[in-house]
Amino acid sequence: MKNTVLTFKAAKEKGEKLSMLTAYDYSTAKLIDEAGVNSILIGDSLGNVILGYEDTISVTMEDMIHHSAAVARGAKNALVVCDMPFMSYQTSVYDAVVNAGRLMKEGRAGAVKLEGGKEACPQIKAIVDAGIPVCAHLGLTPQSINAFGGFKVQGNTETAAKKLIEDAKEVEKAGAFAVVLECVPARIAEIVTKEVGIPTIGIGAGNVCDGQVLVYQDMLGMFSDFTPKFVKRFADIGLVMKEAFAAYDREVKAGTFPAKEHEYTIRDDVLEKLY
Ligand code: KIV
Repeated sequence: MKNTVLTFKAAKEKGEKLSMLTAYDYSTAKLIDEAGVNSILIGDSLGNVILGYEDTISVTMEDMIHHSAAVARGAKNALVVCDMPFMSYQTSVYDAVVNAGRLMKEGRAGAVKLEGGKEACPQIKAIVDAGIPVCAHLGLTPQSINAFGGFKVQGNTETAAKKLIEDAKEVEKAGAFAVVLECVPARIAEIVTKEVGIPTIGIGAGNVCDGQVLVYQDMLGMFSDFTPKFVKRFADIGLVMKEAFAAYDREVKAGTFPAKEHEYTIRDDVLEKLY
């Protein structure tokens, strides 16, 4: 069944958990979609896991549109949510609406996600008013990595926790249909989850959240540059891939691949005319 923002609303009302995973290409999106995951996020984490940057700062609108369109072609039932990259919405409400529109029109996303609380509410409201669903993102917001001074747990002081709870209420008021909570203490995520009427999607925020999201390379053991504490490795596909690449390398070099069954044939009478 097709997942929409209404699926998210109904899940919160019924107390049913929501699943979200990142994807950046057609074939992975298709596998995730076929597995029944509710939503696929084209995260700007593509800067790290696909493009090899140290952070998400350099990711462009063109990068996001390109990957979102590929994912959208593979996602038949999952709600496709596309991240708004750094400086595509912080600069003005106008920029935010124009760029969210591009992610929907050119990237075929069903919703956009942006980082920020109260300060991002004018943008959230304007994008929602334009008919584009918005997922908010609070806690550790990687686009502000330079302001945070590194990847650190957020909302773990009284002031920070109060701000996080307040921000969650504000983004809900501005019209967000869901809010991602990244790297926050589980007990704070629990308070937010109880106090807002929209689903909370946790990543490093405990299991009381209404849903969970992970970067798929992390949960498949395909990205080893940095593994946060909150990641569970559901399979070691990275190892399987490495072993398969090495086997291919060995067989090519030994001349055992390709074998007879991988060859195309030609009729002998045609072949004879060539000599
Ligand atoms: O960019 C991303 O992948 C994200 C998730 C970690 C929530 O924002």
